[in-house]
Amino acid sequence: MDEFDLIVIGAGAAGLMCAGTAATYGKSVVVIDHAEKAGKKILISGGGRCNFTNRFATAGDFISSNPHFCKSALARFTAADFIGMVERAGIKYHERDHGQLFCDDSAREIVELLLRPCREHGVNMQLNCTIGSIQNNGRFVVDTDRGTFRASALVIATGGLSIPKMGATPFGIRLAEQFGLQIVPTVAGLAPFTFTGREKESLKALAGISLDVSVHCRGKSFAEAMLFTHRGLSGPAMLQISSYWQPGDTLEIDLLPGIDVEALLAEKRQSRPQAMLATILSEQLPKRLVQLLCESHISDMRMSQMSERTMGEVAIRLHCWRLKPNGTEGYRTAEVTVGGIDTNELSSKTMEAKKVPGLYFIGEVVDVTGHLGGFNFQWAWSSGYAAALAI
Ligand code: FDA
Repeated sequence: MDEFDLIVIGAGAAGLMCAGTAATYGKSVVVIDHAEKAGKKILISGGGRCNFTNRFATAGDFISSNPHFCKSALARFTAADFIGMVERAGIKYHERDHGQLFCDDSAREIVELLLRPCREHGVNMQLNCTIGSIQNNGRFVVDTDRGTFRASALVIATGGLSIPKMGATPFGIRLAEQFGLQIVPTVAGLAPFTFTGREKESLKALAGISLDVSVHCRGKSFAEAMLFTHRGLSGPAMLQISSYWQPGDTLEIDLLPGIDVEALLAEKRQSRPQAMLATILSEQLPKRLVQLLCESHISDMRMSQMSERTMGEVAIRLHCWRLKPNGTEGYRTAEVTVGGIDTNELSSKTMEAKKVPGLYFIGEVVDVTGHLGGFNFQWAWSSGYAAALAI
């Protein structure tokens, strides 16, 4: 039987942050993971360059049944704190749109950044390790195929359900249920949309086209790029809104955000009366998209033939293209899981379960889900740090 101060289950972003921090503060720590290597999702994140945080992260960038829950942890370990760690380690990084920070070289550097304090402070790393049962007899007892581990504190950092192929499991949810904690129903977030029937076929013809749009659904909107795929719609704008979308919802897509289409058409009717509407629109939008719109939603005609009313109708079509997905690609490709351990069950300061002293939940397994742009890792760092300090 191996005795520790702390057992962390999950050697992902949150688990490694928690283990390294607790070990630095003198705790004896064992990390258990069924994967053969640590930080697998970090390694594939951000196209291999890991969007490790967002310079502007605030509570408003997270979805949760309790939008205030994440505030305390985010304030105690901020984006600037993680940037400090990155800079002290000499990792070169760059900023992209909207404050997103990426490694210049490789996501491997972030995994190494997290593993270094674990190595230096003697964290016992049990990879390729299958967990049998977990009991709480005053101390937590974790039975595995590598032996039994005991500790007074148990941190669950087993992440969300996205990409089961990479080892994602509902382990954390099941364990929370075992200890009588409430769960907010989970659903795939940051996932591409799929369509069926005629809509799927017409969108397929546009596969590969990307354009800047503004998409609206359920009172939320995101102005970013949209990508047509063979299955439907993807790109940052669609991934972002997918975390809010619910089955049956219609997306409203502004194909020309920031452009006054009516004014543009009125001007073109004056300056180029013989031009066709499709020609004018193709100067603003990809040609194949204009073709699709003219086949189904807009009648092509000479500019001189356009009445004020027709111009108004075309403007509505372009500013509010309505599409009804039949679903998302789900956990197979989703970047995150919306929902998870109900935050009412946890202390926002320490992540400890109120009903089960010594049991902590951190990272994506908790009902706190970031928007696209480095927020999910920031939550992993902040919640992992909060738990480590409390143990
Ligand atoms: P994480 O998933 O990192 O770790 C969970 C660990 O638990 C894994 O090591 C897993 O093997 C282990 N585990 C699971 N079940 C287990 C079991 N039954 N027994 C033992 N171990 C078990 N976010 C961001 O901010 N910027 C980005 O660039 C990206 N990019 C990105 C790309 C892709 C393709 C995906 C899928 C996701 C992202 N994300 C992201 C999201 C980000 O990866 C995610 O939110 C964090 O990794 C969550 O950290 P956790 O530590 O909670 O879980």
